Amino acid sequence: MNVLVIGSGGREHAIALAISKSKKLKKLYCAPGNPGTKNIAQNISLNISNHKDVVEFCKSNNINLVVIGPEQPLVDGLSDSLRENSILVFGPSSNAARIESSKSFAKEIMVNADVPTAAYQEFSADQFDDTINYLRESKYPIVLKADGLAAGKGVIICEDFPEAEKAVKDFFVNKIFGSSGDKIIIEEFLKGEEASVFAITDGEDFVCLSPAQDHKRIGDNDTGKNTGGMGAYAPAPLITEELQQKIEKGIIAPTLNELKRTGNEFIGCLYAGLMITESGPKVIEFNCRLGDPETQVVLPLIEGDFLELIYSAAKGKVDKNSIKYSGGCSVCVVASSAGYPDKYEKGFEINGLDLTDENIIIYHAGTIEKNGKILTNGGRVLGVTSVINSNDLITAKRIAYMAIEKISFKGMYYRKDISDKAFKFN
Ligand code: AMP
Ligand code: GLY
Repeated sequence: MNVLVIGSGGREHAIALAISKSKKLKKLYCAPGNPGTKNIAQNISLNISNHKDVVEFCKSNNINLVVIGPEQPLVDGLSDSLRENSILVFGPSSNAARIESSKSFAKEIMVNADVPTAAYQEFSADQFDDTINYLRESKYPIVLKADGLAAGKGVIICEDFPEAEKAVKDFFVNKIFGSSGDKIIIEEFLKGEEASVFAITDGEDFVCLSPAQDHKRIGDNDTGKNTGGMGAYAPAPLITEELQQKIEKGIIAPTLNELKRTGNEFIGCLYAGLMITESGPKVIEFNCRLGDPETQVVLPLIEGDFLELIYSAAKGKVDKNSIKYSGGCSVCVVASSAGYPDKYEKGFEINGLDLTDENIIIYHAGTIEKNGKILTNGGRVLGVTSVINSNDLITAKRIAYMAIEKISFKGMYYRKDISDKAFKFN
């Protein structure tokens, strides 16, 4: 099989690595890929926002499956363009991808499917006064969210009315999220611990990968600004077998059914961002793709053939027997550039990448190769990831941190507490 992976982050490096292990694979391409995917695939400099070019490339290279990593090309309809040209793709249509690109669409699906989520109200920019009046009467804390895509930054948790009033001005008047914030969702603040669940689906049937936990804030103990994700671990012991069943039956299945019923059949990975509250799991958000950095810890725990799994889903009948959980665990620590998630510098040489350890995978994200050297080229630079055979997260954490200490670049920063939240379950 010839496969094309779209994207250039740590998630796409992890997807390419998992696919590269398949016996079914003939040739693997990444567009654009990164210096990490270069070692396992052929990187192609395609302009992925030009769908015609991508279709052309697939036709002339006999691509049997396209795997789309990030949300933007999905929301832009790349899978629709590929399907119109009879090219098989793992990733939802742009209509189905609205589960991520429009929070009001996602809420409507959840309400109609009776899926537990935070109570909410919708407001648009022409309802400024109504919004302020509503917030004056609300209970705090409260959560304000831009309806559209905002690179994971469109959520503001407000502790009191003055904070909420300022946030509404930022959305509607200062337009800090552009048109993504012309409509907002105001929702109940949910208390609990978060987890990410990934369902690989053919639109109806699905298989869930190991549940994972992300670390969204920049600082230890979940302090400071939100980021794309500073580390992850899997499996998350917070999600017991009983809870997993509840999530599959009460959240994933009804959401997929409702998407299909409304003509928005979802083929790809449905990502449920959950809050495990006292009254059970509730959906914070859905994404239309695999998570980053959760993919980096979830895929190495698959025993079997990941390519067969996603190929079967893309073809319309997900092969549930193509994979199983290995019994191991994994911890990914993200090394970021000083200043991230705000302004940061790029172009620093990365040392220590020649590290070899059978329990370590160094995923590339914001890196670039220049004159034979690997340089920093983004906010999240690397994902240093341990994978071990036993389900001992304490050991997996120790191995990951031993490895990251051997890697360096100017201004390198990483959190020191990735996976600590799991230790209370020991
Ligand atoms: P999102 O971009 O929707 O994932 O939201 C970013 C972060 O905001 C989440 O990971 C949560 O930590 C927090 N968050 C979002 N919605 C809620 C909510 N209703 N209650 C509490 N925290 C929330
Ligand atoms: N890990 C968060 C995300 O992928 O959206």
